[in-house]
Amino acid sequence: MSLSVVVLAAGKGTRMRSSLPKVLHPVAHKPMVQHVIDAGTALNASGVTIVYGHGGDTLKQALAENNANWALQAEQLGTGHAVKVAEQFMPDNDTILILYGDVPLIQSATLERLLAVKPEKGIALLTVKLDDPSGYGRIIRENGSVVGIIEQKDANPEQLSINEVNTGIMAVNGDLLKSWLNNLSNDNAQGEYYLTDIIAMANEQGYAVTTAHPDSAMEVEGANNRVQLAALEREYQKRETEKLMLAGASMRDPSRVDVRGDVTVGQDVELDINVVFEGKVTLGNNVVIGPNCLLIDCVIGDNTVVHANSIIESAEVLTNAQIGPFARLRPGAVVGNKAKVGNFVEMKKSTLGEGSKVNHFSYLGDTTVGQGVNIGAGVITANYDGVNKFKTTIEDNAFIGTNSTLVAPVTISANGFVAAGSTITKDVEKNALSIARGKQRNIDNWPRPVKG
Ligand code: UD1
Ligand code: CA
Repeated sequence: MSLSVVVLAAGKGTRMRSSLPKVLHPVAHKPMVQHVIDAGTALNASGVTIVYGHGGDTLKQALAENNANWALQAEQLGTGHAVKVAEQFMPDNDTILILYGDVPLIQSATLERLLAVKPEKGIALLTVKLDDPSGYGRIIRENGSVVGIIEQKDANPEQLSINEVNTGIMAVNGDLLKSWLNNLSNDNAQGEYYLTDIIAMANEQGYAVTTAHPDSAMEVEGANNRVQLAALEREYQKRETEKLMLAGASMRDPSRVDVRGDVTVGQDVELDINVVFEGKVTLGNNVVIGPNCLLIDCVIGDNTVVHANSIIESAEVLTNAQIGPFARLRPGAVVGNKAKVGNFVEMKKSTLGEGSKVNHFSYLGDTTVGQGVNIGAGVITANYDGVNKFKTTIEDNAFIGTNSTLVAPVTISANGFVAAGSTITKDVEKNALSIARGKQRNIDNWPRPVKG
């Protein structure tokens, strides 16, 4: 049976105290609702519909890549009303999976379990037992089977003592759901159209209601304010760092490693404290990342060490390389096998060949460096004239003396040698020495300046 997902996201989120719609607040750099959509699409849903009430333009822009259907719930008249506004996107013969946009930790494995217990015709409900069930709808069972859900505000003391609660997540046949939604009333303590009333309707009409459960209660926890949001972030990070540890990464302190994207690690990886990953990051075997490093969309090869306080973004580092401390690899930097990029070195759109070294205080921009090159301290490639960018080429085994400026476009040919302090504006031939600096004059017995 094909699956359509409906994500409820119309709540205002007043307690966030934010101009951003609540469901766009991020967990691990990704909007909460995007986590929910991803969990739904992982199940091969044929359609995802987002029920929204506020900030429609902002939402549509932020979630444009999802190709979702949009259903406006102009007034928040309850969860049943919210689902009803998505009616046109709920095919009769589909299973409709209802998710909450502010419950981001839901796992697709849990949703698969829910779908697996769904009766051919009827409702599968995700429930959880809580030590403190207050605030939630309580699951009413008779002889073990679910016969209804009673909301906190409508419950009597005996019902309030029930600790099995409704997570809000359920799977229902499209045709049955639509017929039940038509019969909802708002004759209850909150004057709302409760989605949860369809459980009793199903039961009365003889349709089965089955239940499945999440792995942990945190999985179905929502965020109404920033304190709860931070708790979800921590839980998410705990989950992600555990995955990395189980995959072969040791961490000095997992609570000080943050994963804000997709990270894959090889075996025997070591991560020191305050390492932050963003986007897609791949670490090979035996990679060591020192403290206070930010790695964004990058690939780090086997046996490479990234020393403390380095930043790597949209760059590639091959094997057995050394980066940092205090190095910055910007987009398009490629560092070859056994190459070294030392402290206060910045590379952008530049390739450093195998075994080459740029160890201290340098800038390489739009530069191709061959193998076995030594770039002395303070060497700068001047790649920009204020309007256009130009390329520098440094061929194999060249040596660039300390504090030289290479004014692009320029080529230092293989085995070329640039003397310290040179400003190079013309190509240097193979095996040549180039000196381009003012000649030193020594003046004997020079009178030192005196105070006037
Ligand atoms: C709902 C359930 C309750 C369950 C709890 C789990 C109902 C009547 N009650 O309660 O049984 O234990 O969730 O958290 O369903 N929303 C809309 N439009 C609306 C109302 C809500 O889009 O008109 C969205 C909210 O943005 C939110 C979700 O639906 O994502 C749940 O709404 P909320 O007000 O938190 O539901 P509760 O009353 O707490
Ligand atoms: Ca709620």
